[in-house]
Parts: sequence; structure tokens; C-alpha cells
Amino acid sequence: MFEKNVYIERRRTLLGKMREAGAQGILLFIGNAEAPAQYKDNCYKFRQDSTWLYFFGLDEPMMAAVIDLESGDETLFADDVEIGDIIWMGPQPSVRSKAESVGIAGSEPYAGVDKCVKAAVKAGRPVHYIAPSRYFNKLRLMEMLGRYRVEAGVSLLMTESIISMRLVKEDVEIAAIDEACALGYEMHSVARDSIVPGIVEQEIVGKMEGVTLAKGWGVSFPTILTQHGETLHNHLHDKVIEPGKLMVIDAGAESNQHYASDFTRTYPTSGKFTQKQREIYQIVCDCNEYAFSLTRPGITYREVHLATARKMLEGLSALGLVHGDLDEMVREGIAGLFQPHGLGHNMGLDVHDMEDLGENLVGYDKDQTRAKQLGLGSLRMARRLVPGHVITDEPGIYFIPALIDKWKAEGTGKAFVNFDRLASYYDFGGIRLEDDVLVTETGARRLGPNRLPISPDDVEAAMAR
Ligand code: GLY
Ligand code: MN
Repeated sequence: MFEKNVYIERRRTLLGKMREAGAQGILLFIGNAEAPAQYKDNCYKFRQDSTWLYFFGLDEPMMAAVIDLESGDETLFADDVEIGDIIWMGPQPSVRSKAESVGIAGSEPYAGVDKCVKAAVKAGRPVHYIAPSRYFNKLRLMEMLGRYRVEAGVSLLMTESIISMRLVKEDVEIAAIDEACALGYEMHSVARDSIVPGIVEQEIVGKMEGVTLAKGWGVSFPTILTQHGETLHNHLHDKVIEPGKLMVIDAGAESNQHYASDFTRTYPTSGKFTQKQREIYQIVCDCNEYAFSLTRPGITYREVHLATARKMLEGLSALGLVHGDLDEMVREGIAGLFQPHGLGHNMGLDVHDMEDLGENLVGYDKDQTRAKQLGLGSLRMARRLVPGHVITDEPGIYFIPALIDKWKAEGTGKAFVNFDRLASYYDFGGIRLEDDVLVTETGARRLGPNRLPISPDDVEAAMAR
């Protein structure tokens, strides 16, 4: 947890934003509950709701809070433990002291939140809440509000106010993300050093995840580690490592403070790239560097995505895989055949920060609309950059046989794509290279104390060690 004042200030800022916009009524926050894996006493590892963590810091299940927009009163709703709980969990601090630890004056038993919300509804006072990220919280909202379609009642003002705050990271958060990145760096170093033909991929996953479990909360998302990197989110780790393949490792740590890191590197399983692998790898590496060089306040990440797509097409042109005017190819979305995802996303308490609140609300400014084109349409962060944004820079080139076949059969991109030459890339796999980046006053900084080796020569040298 951060210092108590961090949470007091955040809630004060949110209250100020809501009042400034003329909002009345109450702000309702619901923390997460335990989620049973099989039965109620055997649960998934508890993960608190990120917006709850941001404003209240308390990392425990079954809590709720209300802020009264008129009086400014804040109340934490949670139950004190009784002897039955103490037997299994040990002694716990009182709810009163937990509330005080984050600067909240009022506390009541958990059931009080239902009464509080129902009283507000009865009095005709607006109840502001954000989209629930878990089904349990949705059910709680349905009960409290006495309505079925709770999505329709989500407060856009509260949602946008929270997004505007969480998007711009405070210094304490940047330090926390740097820490998660240090852990991510360690995970990836262990993984890279464990690549040996003959072992099963899962062995590396286990070693790598052990690093973050030993020092942090765990992984920030399910690990992607595969010799079939052309499948973007491949979570199967059951293949024996074969020489001569490419292995995509996309993984990150979640620190004990619950901040994320998210890195991707791609390794030749034999320790050395073939000429063909190196050619494609170099293009992706150049794109990663180029995107970083463009990242600064004032530019939109959509512009960075598109400029990087152009750079990618330039490289693919040099190899004869595409041909034609680069700008025209960018407009036509030809890069989407090779990179059917966006350049990056916001990162913070969530690896894809705040996507539970709405991908477009988080990633797009009001004057931007999300494209439909393959690739650009998956861009999760398009906004005009400001200092404090934390984003990923993750270009990739993938040869997806089913997608190439589809474009070929439909004639999509036929004026630009050299389908004959692509035929020899069907078993190539994929390459993605991802860093985490902070937008600063003057440009950008890669997060974490060290950068994972990325140039093909540095990767080979690291693997040789
Ligand atoms: N690291 C997985 C993703 O960004 O989707
Ligand atoms: Mn990512």
C-alpha cells in the first residue's frame, strides 16, 4: 500500500471532478469477493479490483465504500472477524483501523452498503458506479439497485473521471511499475537462459513464473510461451523444444503492489537465427525502436502505430514480400496481414489498464474513432500522449497460414502482397518484441532498470552465455 495521503488525495480529486461537473448523489465502489475454484473454501488466489485498489488500497475481499457527493462523507463497509474466522485466519485488524489506514472516517458492517444504496435510490438520489469487472459485483449491484440491466446505469462521468486519473501515472506508481518491470526482466532472463532443445515448453514456464511468485504477486496475465508465435495469444506450453524454431515469450510480473509489467522477446531455439529469421526479426526490432523514437507528448499513439506500420511495410518490401506505394499500403491496411494487432496498450494496475471500464473509453480520445481495419482496429491505445502515460511498444510480424490463405482466396491486398513468395513462410511462426514505456515531459523512457537484449546480435550473445 502507498501512504494514506495518496488515497485521500485521489478520492478528493475524484470528488472534485464529479462536483465540478454538477454531479449529485453518491459514489458507490464495490471491492472483489473470493472466487471459488471448486467449492467455497477452495478459491482462486484473491485479486482485488484495481479501481478499488487505486482509491482505497485495502487488499481484502468483501468490502464496499460510499462517498456522499453532497456532504463529502466517506464510509467503508466491511465486517470485523469473529472467533470462527480467527480460528482459521488468525487475528485481524479491526475494520475501523483499516478505514483509518487509508484516511476514511466512517465504517459500518458490510450489510450497511445495501441499506445505504437502497436509501439513496428511495430518496431519488443518483447512485454513480462503474462497470463491474466481475459477475459477483454485477450481482451485488443488481441486488442493491433492484434492477437487472445494471450496465445501462453505469455512470459515464464517474468512469471518465477515474480513467482521466488512472491514465496519468503518479510518481509513486511509476516507481511501482519500474519494480514490476525489474521482476519481469528477471523472469525473462531466466526463461531465455532455460531454452534448450529437447525439453518441454512448460518447464520454462514453471521456472519463469517461479521468479515472480517468489518475489511478487504472480504473473500479470497468463504466460504466452510458444514455438507457434503466429498464434498471438498461444497458452499451450506442451511442445518439445525443437532446434531451428522461433520461440515467442510474452510474459509479465504483477508486483505485490499489484502493478504490472509486460515484455515480449522472441528467441531462436538453437541460439542463433537463421538468415531468414534474422531478416524478419530485424524488421520487427527496427519497428520497436522506431515506435519508441516517435513516442513523446503531443503525438497520438495512433500516429505512432501507423508510422510503425509504414516502417514494417518498408522492410517487407525490401524482402519482396509486398510491393507498391508505402502510404497507399498503410491506407489499405496491408500491414494487418502481418501484424493483426495494435502497437500497444495502456498498462498500470492492469496489464491492459482499465479495459474493464471500456476499451474505447480508455484508449481513445473523444475526437478519435476506432477503425475497423485488421490490425489498426485492434489498437487499444490511440490517444494523444501526455507525460505520465504508460504504454507498451509491441510490434510483431506473424505468418498466419489461415489468414494468408483467406486474403489470397478473397483477393484482399492482391495489388500489394506477393503471395507466391509468402508460400515459403507458412512454417515460419511469429516474432513480437515488446517494451514498457513511460511518456515523459520531453519524450519517453523505457521502464525497468534494465532492458532485455533485443538486437539480434545481443540476443545471440546473451543466449551463448
Ligand atoms: N501481453 C499480452 C497482451 O498485451 O495482449
Ligand atoms: Mn502487451
